[in-house]
Amino acid sequence: MCGIVAYIGPKDAAPLLLEGLQRLEYRGYDSAGIAVCGRTGGLRLRKVKGRVADLAEAVPARFKGTAGIGHTRWATHGVPSDANAHPHLDAAQRIAVVHNGIIENADELRARLAADGTAFASETDSEVLAHLVAAHAGEGVALEDAVRQALAHVVGTYGVAVLDSAQPDRVVVARNGSPIVLGIGEKEMFAASDVAALVRYTRQVVHLDDGELAVVRADGFRTFTEDARATAKEPSTVDWEVGSYDTGGHEHFLAKEIHEQPDAVERTLRGRLDDRFHTAHLGGLNLDARELRAIRRVKILGCGSAYYAGEAGAQLIEELARVPAHAEPASEFRYRNPVIEADTLYVAVSQSGETYDTLAAVQEVRRKGGRVLGVVNTVGSAIARACDGGIYLHAGPEVSVASTKAFTCTAVAFALLALHLGRIRDLSPADGRRICAGLKALPDRIREILAQEERIAQLAAAYAKHDGMMFVGRVRGWPVAREGAQKLKEVSYVHAEAYPASELKHGPLALIGPGLPTVAVVPDDELLDKNLTTLGEIRARGGRVLTVGHRAPDARLADDSLVVPRSEPELDPLLLGIPLQLLAYHAAVALGRDVDRPRNLAKSVTVE
Ligand code: BG6
Repeated sequence: MCGIVAYIGPKDAAPLLLEGLQRLEYRGYDSAGIAVCGRTGGLRLRKVKGRVADLAEAVPARFKGTAGIGHTRWATHGVPSDANAHPHLDAAQRIAVVHNGIIENADELRARLAADGTAFASETDSEVLAHLVAAHAGEGVALEDAVRQALAHVVGTYGVAVLDSAQPDRVVVARNGSPIVLGIGEKEMFAASDVAALVRYTRQVVHLDDGELAVVRADGFRTFTEDARATAKEPSTVDWEVGSYDTGGHEHFLAKEIHEQPDAVERTLRGRLDDRFHTAHLGGLNLDARELRAIRRVKILGCGSAYYAGEAGAQLIEELARVPAHAEPASEFRYRNPVIEADTLYVAVSQSGETYDTLAAVQEVRRKGGRVLGVVNTVGSAIARACDGGIYLHAGPEVSVASTKAFTCTAVAFALLALHLGRIRDLSPADGRRICAGLKALPDRIREILAQEERIAQLAAAYAKHDGMMFVGRVRGWPVAREGAQKLKEVSYVHAEAYPASELKHGPLALIGPGLPTVAVVPDDELLDKNLTTLGEIRARGGRVLTVGHRAPDARLADDSLVVPRSEPELDPLLLGIPLQLLAYHAAVALGRDVDRPRNLAKSVTVE
């Protein structure tokens, strides 16, 4: 997905747009551009292949204009290039458009426009929007009407911002499937794909809903549905600190967010543990005890790390509440014509709350009458608003593309949900008390693990020399292994795959040898002996072994071991994964990767 910013007000737009794009660069970073116009019109455009920093260098000092739009791109149609970068202009160079999303009927629209003599300057689907708006922007037609009429031709998803040098007193934005949020300033207005670009200037924001369009002027905004009916929108207040968007003295956002986890977990827990009944209070569920007791199954949906966090959540729910629970990739869900059951509770997991695949899965569940909660970090996001209720993580913004604190806080949120479900069923007060104590102790346990960073960095540099790594774990260790492999792949580009440890002998063991080391998740639980047997099978084939567990196995079974403090057995997975985050991070650093903006990826994919 891409990042969009817009500004209109008394100030010079270009520096504000560039600053906003810097804050959104985690959304896409293969090319960037801005367009501005002054009060008397006259469009100025700069766009380049490369990062926002490259664009900033290309923007000349005398690049004046008090209204403007900007874009940082994650390519879907057309290679990263200057020509394919946004903003796109119409032929008369009067209209400028930035777009996040996919126009599914772009080829048909291009053909129709070309037949009318329109010449295209790029390979992108987005460029058709500039020509469509221009085609409707006849004499005396308000920009918002031209945009609305143009979008009526579009099949697909969009978050757009449009500038018209003939109407420099406004910027028009619209949303269908890709987020757009307005920022309300003092006699100035902002718009962006994400509050990250706004919090430096204002905390008062308005999220557009799908199908909504807004006319934004320096003194305010008005919102409309796609059939031009005015809508009333209440501003909400963003509770994130501006400092949330700095690396806080760390070299990378990924390092900052790994080290933020003790505080982030404390925020997820805050006000939600009940020491009287040894349970959890979750005000946003919108489900009372009677409704929750009627739940016979939990189905968890998410993408990427959110999916793996959901797998850890499913285990917690089965262990503590004895309710069947299962996680599956949200990206596949809607395509398999799922059977939606009235007594199943669906839970959508998303840090950004804007992942299109997860949002579409939520919409599929609700379309068929299912009940869905959101476990979401970004307040007011599309998925949060599409759900019947849910649990906000309060983890603070997660900027690095690879998810770490959101993963851990999601697992904590599921522990709270599992505790709540368990204690309205058969989980005993003693067990409830035990889990409450374990959750409260997590931040300090995480701090103990983070203190091992130097040694983990040394191991990471050694293991990063391999072309690939295997990750294995049993039962509680299995989601830890999956997320560990995901992290390593995402940020270091070292191939990694995860298997249930019991599965290794049924095929993958053929891969094991001196060239393919294995990370084994080996907690001191009832499966310890089985896991040690697996280590023996690997070592017997010359495989190198790094264990993560509660004690170092015999040197005959492991070359290296990372030891984490114990929690309650059910909560151990939340700690076992922390060293693997650091392992992935330092492997990426050792390999000189772009840690916060790994190649080919984006923080949240808001397109199909
Ligand atoms: C991917 C990100 O694009 O989306 C992953 O690279 C993330 O890090 C996944 O886990 C899901 O994102 P979200 O915002 O829905 O949790």
